[in-house]
Amino acid sequence: MTTSTLAKWMLQSNSTVILTGAGMSTESGIPDFRSRTGWWKNIDPRTVASVESLQQNYELFREFYQMRILSLTNCEPHSGHEILANWEARGLLTLIATQNVDRFHQQAGNGAVAELHGNIVTIRCQTCGKALPLGHFMDNAVCTYCNGKLRPNVVLFGEALPQQAWNRSLHAIQNADVVIVIGTSLEVYPVNQLPAMCQGRLVYINLDVSGNSRNFDLILQGTAGGVLAEIDKYLRELIAE
Ligand code: OAD
Repeated sequence: MTTSTLAKWMLQSNSTVILTGAGMSTESGIPDFRSRTGWWKNIDPRTVASVESLQQNYELFREFYQMRILSLTNCEPHSGHEILANWEARGLLTLIATQNVDRFHQQAGNGAVAELHGNIVTIRCQTCGKALPLGHFMDNAVCTYCNGKLRPNVVLFGEALPQQAWNRSLHAIQNADVVIVIGTSLEVYPVNQLPAMCQGRLVYINLDVSGNSRNFDLILQGTAGGVLAEIDKYLRELIAE
């Protein structure tokens, strides 16, 4: 079974759902978390990306997210993101459930996106919850309403996932004929429970497939951009037949 098999499954499917992780964005120049060059190889997430870090080590927390937000300005969605946007436009996709916080799926043109871990491009006050401009966070400002600490709308370690995004993803995955998991190590709970909720065909596209090989109907080892281009080529050929 290969990429052509998946193209056939997608054309037979009434609902295809994509679940993405950081490996979806590495080809845009954004590091993932657990690969050799990933964020968590050099930094302990508890020191910069947890509720404790926000409460007790705010300057380091802010510096880490300012750096990640700044790094986005030099990066953009790649051809793989564009293929997914094109599939949605052609009616081939129901939803992208993503752990990514870069908003690249939306930038590429996908409208149906559930942000399971929030995003780092919008800001709120930790105390009063009001939304504030990104620039305030980047300028080290405090909340203009209550002087509280500003933070990105990202899910930190120790926080619950946004209920609506979770429910939407769960419902879509439970009702999908095909679920394609792309660029995630599936190490983080509770998102790593979602693939098992799929009652249809389950596909894994990843550079490193060693840890998750038993759970999938089809495994495609390679880069997200490369594998998606190949599937897209077969889809176009099949549709033209
Ligand atoms: P990980 O870094 O854990 O996993 C990324 C996976 O993508 C790895 O298995 C890589 O081998 C693979 N990969 C890297 N580049 C790829 C490419 N070009 N094509 C295909 N695969 C590629 O990232 P996530 O699973 O997304 O959470 O991590 C989940 C969560 O852990 C993140 O959302 C973040 C992190 O802590 C929070 O910050 C709450």
